[in-house]
Amino acid sequence: MIPKKDILDFYKKSPFSTKLYIKIKLRICPLLAVETHFPARGTVLDLGCGNGVFSSLLKMGSPERTVVGIDLDPNKVRQARLLEARFEGLSFREGNIAESEYPAADIVSLIDVLYLIPYEVQERILRRAFAALRPGGVLLLKDMDTRPRRKYAWNYFQETVSVKIVGFTLGSKFYFRSREDYIRLLEGIGFKVEPVPLDRGYWYPHIFFRCKKPE
Ligand SMILES: C[S@@+](CC[C@H](N)C(=O)[O-])C[C@H]1O[C@@H](n2cnc3c(N)ncnc32)[C@H](O)[C@@H]1O
Repeated sequence: MIPKKDILDFYKKSPFSTKLYIKIKLRICPLLAVETHFPARGTVLDLGCGNGVFSSLLKMGSPERTVVGIDLDPNKVRQARLLEARFEGLSFREGNIAESEYPAADIVSLIDVLYLIPYEVQERILRRAFAALRPGGVLLLKDMDTRPRRKYAWNYFQETVSVKIVGFTLGSKFYFRSREDYIRLLEGIGFKVEPVPLDRGYWYPHIFFRCKKPE
């Protein structure tokens, strides 16, 4: 696992707001554990990459990954692009992942993105991800479960504050799915799905799905 200190050192010269965001994110979200599930090499398409923090973690974890991030929010993409000069094989572009073209990939990641997107559009994105993956490729999906209920309620409250009140992320409604619902959807698309609960030690119902496209 990448040491937390290495990440904080990497962002040492970044604006205070970025450093604060990273400290909070690393405390409340198992991003470092998620990174360990990614293959060490291959082309990663990071859908809904935001300000590029997770995409850059992927490069810190293994320079043999080529990472392409796409996000809808021009301000976040502008911030993310500042990271391009610090790694070879890291690039970002602005786009709506429900519509823009995906390059062929070995790995597709969706980290805390789908809950902001209406259910029917989620399905469209997952089908497009399946089509973009090479046979044997993986979709790595991190979202929030609807159980345990107390963690779900806390997450709902916190997301309401950050999305609807602070305006931290684009969106106005939430579209959470239960673990069983995700498995049904992903298997229906053709993936072999392995759910990995990642909520132990966190207040949030983090859930991760490793989804393999058959060879
Ligand atoms: C909670 S943030 C997660 C960012 C990043 N994946 C991370 O873990 O740090 C959700 C991101 O999804 C992006 N997003 C939401 N809907 C999108 C869409 N239709 N196309 C592209 N990006 C989208 C938002 O702009 C936001 O940056």
